[in-house]
Amino acid sequence: MSTDRVIAVANLKGGVGKTTTVLNLAGFAATAGRRVLVVDTDPQGSLTQILLPEAGLAAKTLTEAFRERAQSLDGFRQPSALPGVDLVPATLGLDAVLQGAAAWTGREYVLLEMLAPHLAAREYDLVLIDCRPAIDLSVTNALTAARWMLVPAECSFMALDGYEYVQTLARQIQQRINPQLTLLGILPTRYRGGTGHAQAALEEIERQVAAVRPPLRFVPVRLAVAAADAPAYKTSLAQFAPASGVGQDYRAATEQILTFLDGGGR
Ligand SMILES: Nc1ncnc2c1ncn2[C@@H]1O[C@H](COP(=O)(O)OP(=O)(O)OP(=O)(O)O)[C@@H](O)[C@H]1O
Ligand SMILES: [Mg+2]
Repeated sequence: MSTDRVIAVANLKGGVGKTTTVLNLAGFAATAGRRVLVVDTDPQGSLTQILLPEAGLAAKTLTEAFRERAQSLDGFRQPSALPGVDLVPATLGLDAVLQGAAAWTGREYVLLEMLAPHLAAREYDLVLIDCRPAIDLSVTNALTAARWMLVPAECSFMALDGYEYVQTLARQIQQRINPQLTLLGILPTRYRGGTGHAQAALEEIERQVAAVRPPLRFVPVRLAVAAADAPAYKTSLAQFAPASGVGQDYRAATEQILTFLDGGGR
């Protein structure tokens, strides 16, 4: 069983584009013929609301999977509104289950345990875990189940605020639980060219990337209304506006990630 194709998309700062990034990486990877699984670990369920088909829930959710300490995702995953993308949905009830789980033995490993048989069987080319903006058991589980952490950082004032916290958390998890966990890259998001503060933020991000040298360096994802519109149609930029600037940005990021993973993560 290998977590080599599992990426947690995390940042402790809210609204920086985590869910948008999961949605569009999944969309472009599936369009390229890859088998994709997305796991919503945010009890707010933003990704679930976007990707749940009109027909609604066809299975149980991560909430029940956690409550039952499931040993596989069978019965907890379903086809999403994006062709080629499976979804493990989240509901608000997940929060109560997580609180109850605080005393469980091995509580950090619940998500990894349910993913394990599917990773062993190589059912997916890409597994993306959407995280909530917090330090809690849901994020710890995501970073325990992932080989890679991708941090979207908004190109605005204090761009690296949340990154620093999530890196500290990742380092603790790496030391105590998941030695393989590695920063894949920092993805600059919501970039508005021509504005001074966006440029300053991008330079701050680039300085950090130069200092920590993650395996991937990304061009910034532009701020564009298409990125905010696609979810309203239960779709990603790969279907909604693949030729738009922001679509091209996410397509490029997806190709970089897949090429890197296909090369064995080296
Ligand atoms: N490149 C972009 N251009 C325009 N709007 C964007 C872009 N990226 C994200 N957005 C919008 O910004 C808002 C926040 O994005 P998103 O929900 O992906 O952030 P998040 O980090 O997942 O938030 P949370 O921390 O609440 O989970 C959303 O309304 C989204 O549609
Ligand atoms: Mg989100």
